[in-house]
Amino acid sequence: MAKEGLGLEITELRLGLPGGESIKVVNKNDKKRVFSAVNGGVDENCGRNVEKKNQVVGWPPVCSYWKKNYMNEGSKMYVKVSMDGAPFLRKIDLGMHKEYKELALALENLFGCHGLDLLKKLAYRRFALTAAKAQFISTMSVGEDNVSSVKRRLAQLFETSLRETVPGEPDVVPIVDSCSDRSGGKFGDYQCNNAMVLWSKIKGKQTGYKGPPAVGKAIMTNLPPSEMIESCSVAGPGFVNVVLSKNWIAQILLRMLIDGIDTWAPLLPVKTAVVDFSSPNIAKEMHVGHLRSTIIGDTLARMLEFSHVKVLRRNHVGDWGTQFGMLIEFLFEKFPNPEEVNEAAIGDLQAFYKASKLRFDSDPEFKQRAQQAVVRLQGGEDRYRKAWKKICEISRTEFHRVYERLGVSLEEKGESFYNPYIPGVLDELDNKGLIKESEGARVIFVDGVNIPLIVVKSDGGYNYASTDLAALWYRLNEEKAEWIIYVTDVGQQQHFDMFFKAAKRAGWLPADDSLYPKATHVGFGLVLGEDGKRFRTRNTEVVRLVDLLDEAKSRSKTAVLERDAAKDWPEEEVEKTAEAVGYGAVKYADLKNNRLSNYTFNFDQMLNDKGNTAVYLLYAHARICSIIRKSGKDIEELKKNGKIVLDHDGERALGLHLVQFSEIVEEASINLLPSTLCDYLYNLSDIFTKKFYSNCQVIGSPEETSRLLLCEATAIVMRKCFYLLGIEPVYKI
Ligand code: ARG
Repeated sequence: MAKEGLGLEITELRLGLPGGESIKVVNKNDKKRVFSAVNGGVDENCGRNVEKKNQVVGWPPVCSYWKKNYMNEGSKMYVKVSMDGAPFLRKIDLGMHKEYKELALALENLFGCHGLDLLKKLAYRRFALTAAKAQFISTMSVGEDNVSSVKRRLAQLFETSLRETVPGEPDVVPIVDSCSDRSGGKFGDYQCNNAMVLWSKIKGKQTGYKGPPAVGKAIMTNLPPSEMIESCSVAGPGFVNVVLSKNWIAQILLRMLIDGIDTWAPLLPVKTAVVDFSSPNIAKEMHVGHLRSTIIGDTLARMLEFSHVKVLRRNHVGDWGTQFGMLIEFLFEKFPNPEEVNEAAIGDLQAFYKASKLRFDSDPEFKQRAQQAVVRLQGGEDRYRKAWKKICEISRTEFHRVYERLGVSLEEKGESFYNPYIPGVLDELDNKGLIKESEGARVIFVDGVNIPLIVVKSDGGYNYASTDLAALWYRLNEEKAEWIIYVTDVGQQQHFDMFFKAAKRAGWLPADDSLYPKATHVGFGLVLGEDGKRFRTRNTEVVRLVDLLDEAKSRSKTAVLERDAAKDWPEEEVEKTAEAVGYGAVKYADLKNNRLSNYTFNFDQMLNDKGNTAVYLLYAHARICSIIRKSGKDIEELKKNGKIVLDHDGERALGLHLVQFSEIVEEASINLLPSTLCDYLYNLSDIFTKKFYSNCQVIGSPEETSRLLLCEATAIVMRKCFYLLGIEPVYKI
């Protein structure tokens, strides 16, 4: 039942009717609960009704879509998730050994590669996950003045209050969360959940408090006065609810309109990060997996850049390896005269790769020559280096076409770049006693994995892992990166897990994952076709990216041309809109999913103008722009002299959602989850339309100025979201 080596045990796993499922994970040694979770419905143990609105049915979504947790008495963790999870855990039977293991694995996934280790450490604080989140807040020392996150500002107020409430517990970290999407904001906009945790700590000490509600009350009373807060209340077992002042929200919005949205950038505790993404292999196909990596990596880089992190966008292309011997030999055969080699002559490099592979597999004499070619290339022989360079160049031009269309910029530092560093790095690891001989190869053993990480193959050659070790060394020591992020499919998780563990053994990275420098693998699932299988074209070829983008554009062009309004558009505008919508649709369809799950590629769905699609969002933005245009007012003037008033519920709901932008970007960046930002954007558009626009007349109303400013703020935030997601906005429909 236990997952070995983690010190954790699942002691309770109940499956039942939707809402009746629960899990309890304890520490094996002291049997203390690390956390337990229910998936919505009724939690019998403390008799409280768990919110039903976003009820989860089945474990898969719990495992793969962890979004938010909040604690209750007895450290229950409620996992609020969405419904469309991967089905692999749906059939867990109570008592079946294998499934418990699967669940443990899924949990590991849920908390990230090293999540359970982290969890184990945090178990001593019992409130594992909330503490982990809150800890992040408190370790960032930023002055109150430049804090743009509402949550963080409130956390600062609560921190002051906690010091006052329990002077004997100076380490208590404020646990503050937004509750607008949890309880519909019925009791407040934010909630401080420290009382119960605190009570369990101070119970028995002479503090004078008689239970969590009293602690909650004291936390509320001790809050320093703030213009942010309209009112507070204590609910149930000590939750402190905060209603924000609508005047304050209005002020914050107006300030943003005047000073610009960049003043809402979150501050992250890292200066320099490497995002290693896209990274296709020369001459091999750049497939949809690389498309996912390109799209997800670009968004992560954009979010970090927005948050003032210096990002090194690295294309770790596979430009070094045994395949080059084969390619070069084949090139020599086809083009005895090197002058003749160019893109047009070679044509499709993938086809060239295939043909050479065929030759390699069928002709032993050719194979031998190819193997010698690798040695000659690695030995630096001129003719071989030149041929290698040529092949890389042709591939590069091809990749670039895709990047240009996607608006993605990347700096290539391929595997070959790190090659000269490998011997030195391996020496260092050897001196530290990490490298062992095993079956002729040189390897590093790491905890928890029974196969070792091979760093020198038995033929003496280096491999993917040796290159990655050298690259990590370079990034840490030469580039001084504090956070190194690798974006690849989840299939490579074990490679990264092992190689990070090796780096920890070497002392390059701290053992504690909450500390920097840090390396993180951002895994993502497969792209599936509509048959539920790996996305392929009809003749089972991998799908070429350029073809995909072509089709997205041409389909969206057809849709644009069908619209009456576009009848008189100049050709250039139609093209631009078709590209923005088409490529935006492909990107958004990918980003809106939790990246760990597989996603189904479906043009009809992604290009639908209804539902959670880029098309819908882009049109929503264009509509807001057209409201502003139609008013005939000069927004710059209104910003200077106008005022925002949030008296109507719809106005307030929209204003509140807008000012939460900063904390959402922060959350999405810290968890490396672009889907968080997509959810926010979709909700923004929904709140704008359903709560605000359908209830609050804009043009011609007495509140016109304020409402136009709200429209403008919405459009600005939407555009920033688009920008961060790599989507070009459109202004007209
Ligand atoms: N070229 C690899 C592939 O296509 C991805 C490289 C990812 N980056 C890294 N540093 N290993 O699978």
